[in-house]
Amino acid sequence: MALKVGIVGLRGIGSNHAECHSKDPLSNLVAVCDVVKERADAEAQKHNVRAYYSLADMLKHEPDLDIVDVTTGGFENGSWHYEPAMQAMEAGKHTLVEKPLSNDVGEARQMVAKAAEKNVYLGCNLNHYFTPPAETAKQYMDNGQIGELVYCLHKMGFSAGEETYSPTTSSRFKGFPYAHLKAFLSHPFSVMRHFCGDVTHVQAFVNRPGFRRRAEDVMLSTVSIHVRFANDSVGYLLSQRGDAAYGLGGWWSLEVAGTKGTFCIENCIEKVTFWPAAKPAEPVVTSSGLTDFGLTFPRRIHAFLEDVGNGVPKESLRANGRDALAALEYTWAVMESYEQGGALVRPHPLPPLHGDPATLLE
Ligand SMILES: NC(=O)c1ccc[n+]([C@@H]2O[C@H](COP(=O)([O-])OP(=O)(O)OC[C@H]3O[C@@H](n4cnc5c(N)ncnc54)[C@H](O)[C@@H]3O)[C@@H](O)[C@H]2O)c1
Repeated sequence: MALKVGIVGLRGIGSNHAECHSKDPLSNLVAVCDVVKERADAEAQKHNVRAYYSLADMLKHEPDLDIVDVTTGGFENGSWHYEPAMQAMEAGKHTLVEKPLSNDVGEARQMVAKAAEKNVYLGCNLNHYFTPPAETAKQYMDNGQIGELVYCLHKMGFSAGEETYSPTTSSRFKGFPYAHLKAFLSHPFSVMRHFCGDVTHVQAFVNRPGFRRRAEDVMLSTVSIHVRFANDSVGYLLSQRGDAAYGLGGWWSLEVAGTKGTFCIENCIEKVTFWPAAKPAEPVVTSSGLTDFGLTFPRRIHAFLEDVGNGVPKESLRANGRDALAALEYTWAVMESYEQGGALVRPHPLPPLHGDPATLLE
């Protein structure tokens, strides 16, 4: 049976989520909410659902809601996530939150703890690996075709340069040196962790080009990160926000190499290439036939609906709150490394996994 959903926050991304829910057979969108009345009313009319102007009201008048989907933004694209997500979980609702979980790691830790306390699903829209190429790549790993992991090279960000640059006027980003790191690194870190597991060590160099300095734009927009994974393989992440044009592999490429084979995903949703380490080493290219990054949204949302509907163990929820917290802990380690001139930093440990007594078997 379709799950009853209410959405909080209805600008660009909230409208996108509303569209996804309205087309998904696992979802029954019943209400939308925005503190700006016109936005809530317009979206409610479009989808023929009820409009609310405060989450408290929506929770009061929609007691049967199964899921609250939090698509608010805020400073550094994350300061408005904590309050509605905590409110929703306190009311016992399964909650999906846009990334980053918060722009404050302390708040993010509380959100994960709240989900555990209330025994509800907390998911995050870490949509970048809900793609056909990522599924094919995972299959290579599960089939043993990659072998023991050796290295991971990831490049993700925004392709541009000084000719097209104009300083931001958005109050969400203006004046925040860490806005790119906090708002964006959740994506590449979650992708790396999805394929290679937990990160134990982080070391980073962070910078911004001359054209930003001359415009007194404080955003640290280029970041070069070296990591070590718990399985002892090594990784490198380069992310930049419109400082330069990306070359090979495009705006999003991930190369994961093991002792038996290597894969590289290009442009997120487009294609994956596999090179077997054994001879003859002919590469196998699998194109998805898709080029629209926007398709990652319905795919990720559908996975959340599936997991909640199937009642999977909380720790098995795909792209769960703890996964999103891991990405933030690594981001905070990047900032600490930068502030210490490139020092080696061990990310704050994640909360332990206790398992669900109802699903833990002998
Ligand atoms: N996953 C992705 O690929 C991806 C891509 C882009 C943006 N995002 C994320 O999506 C989120 C939303 O982005 P956006 O650009 O639509 O944000 P936005 O700030 O433009 O819009 C947020 C909306 O939420 C409303 N709002 C804020 N707090 C509220 C509250 N407590 N109750 C009700 N309404 C409230 C605001 O009035 C506004 O209409 C951000 O966190 C951003 O990081 C994710």
